[in-house]
Amino acid sequence: MSITAIKGFNDLLPSESELWQFIEQTARQVFARYGFNEIRVPIVEKTELFCRSIGDTTDIVEKEMYTFTDKGGSSLTLRPEGTASVMRALIENKLYALDSINKLYYMGPMFRHERPQKGRYRQFHQIGAEVTGAADPLIDAQVLLMVSRLFKELGLTEPSLQINSLGCPVCRPAYREALVAFLEERQDALCEDCRRRQTTNPLRALDCKVPGCVEATQGAPAMVEHLCAECDQHFSAVQNYLTAAEVPFSLNPRMVRGLDYYTRTTFELVTGLLGSQSAVAAGGRYDGLVEQLGGPAVPGIGFALGVERVALLLGDRNFDRMPDLFIAVMGDAARTAGFRLMAALQDQGFWVETDCEGKSLKSQMRRADKLKARYSIVLGDTELAAGSGALKRMADGSQQTVALIAEGIAGAITGG
Ligand code: HAM
Repeated sequence: MSITAIKGFNDLLPSESELWQFIEQTARQVFARYGFNEIRVPIVEKTELFCRSIGDTTDIVEKEMYTFTDKGGSSLTLRPEGTASVMRALIENKLYALDSINKLYYMGPMFRHERPQKGRYRQFHQIGAEVTGAADPLIDAQVLLMVSRLFKELGLTEPSLQINSLGCPVCRPAYREALVAFLEERQDALCEDCRRRQTTNPLRALDCKVPGCVEATQGAPAMVEHLCAECDQHFSAVQNYLTAAEVPFSLNPRMVRGLDYYTRTTFELVTGLLGSQSAVAAGGRYDGLVEQLGGPAVPGIGFALGVERVALLLGDRNFDRMPDLFIAVMGDAARTAGFRLMAALQDQGFWVETDCEGKSLKSQMRRADKLKARYSIVLGDTELAAGSGALKRMADGSQQTVALIAEGIAGAITGG
């Protein structure tokens, strides 16, 4: 039996890679405009890093991590997200001391042992960005502006931006108490998970998709109504900046993120086109995280998008590349001349193909069609003797005589 890939782990096939490169390149270009530099962090980290940052009682840490013991006896984990690793690198390399503000982006695979379905995989890819060192609401708005511009440049206008505030250690405890009291009165209507999480992570009940929980939590107290004065001012300022920059958004007071490190502004880009996998990108502020991981008190905010989900939304876009020229050859002398011509044109930046199977002229032309070559030229003894040949534009069959030198052909291809 042949060996197959692991469930939830996908190959990225050549037919999809153009689309992925488009997504990655667009992100790099947009990030550069906002002053972000790339950071590459390891795919495997000490398990402790994720427990301490994402939180012991989150679904990710409780159920979804790929954790193993290595030969030295250390507990290691395939990263389930990027923020924790980037903050670990910031602290370890003292990047915060080199510059008070650090703007970092990353892209790569993440791993979560979730139930695979469309848009949800066990190995998936994120493109993320993090800013550390700035507590000002202007930075929240700038990150949101950047995310919305990125989606615009990707040609996606549908995912809508939803924002919320999760408060801070000053105001969240009182809110938590109010929520727990509300949930206790509705205990019997809640699912087993929500009942279990009531003491450890009660906010998750607002996010639970079980119909009974959705109904029971209607009218639950919202964090935005319990913000302390500072968090309230911060959240208002974020919204004012967004309005000033004409970034469309809506408030979602029920938004709860599945990671514990968030404070204040949180957000998601939500689509109705991917079934239950509605978040295409998500993020928020995490002002206590760096300190929690043993670093100085440096605030932070960031986001990550799911590349697979963006690719699904862009799915029917055509990113096919086609060769500029197919050189069909008849005979050994033409084969060598064609090879030389091909090399010279490739050096000038053109994508050129020729026969590499010793096929008949008819088969070669069929291949030129299959590859959707823009132009073709046939080289035989007659063409070599004349030093010129007929360059054919494949779209309409029109022909023009060109000298069999790279400059002549290059000029004709570029001109046409
Ligand atoms: P997250 O919401 O867990 O946040 O993931 C961000 C995005 O990754 C999601 O919106 C989704 O598009 C994608 N994603 C997550 N899980 C899967 C999966 N199993 N299959 C496919 N795509 C998935 C974070 O990871 C935070 N680190 C984001 C952040 C950065 N917050 C602050 N900075």
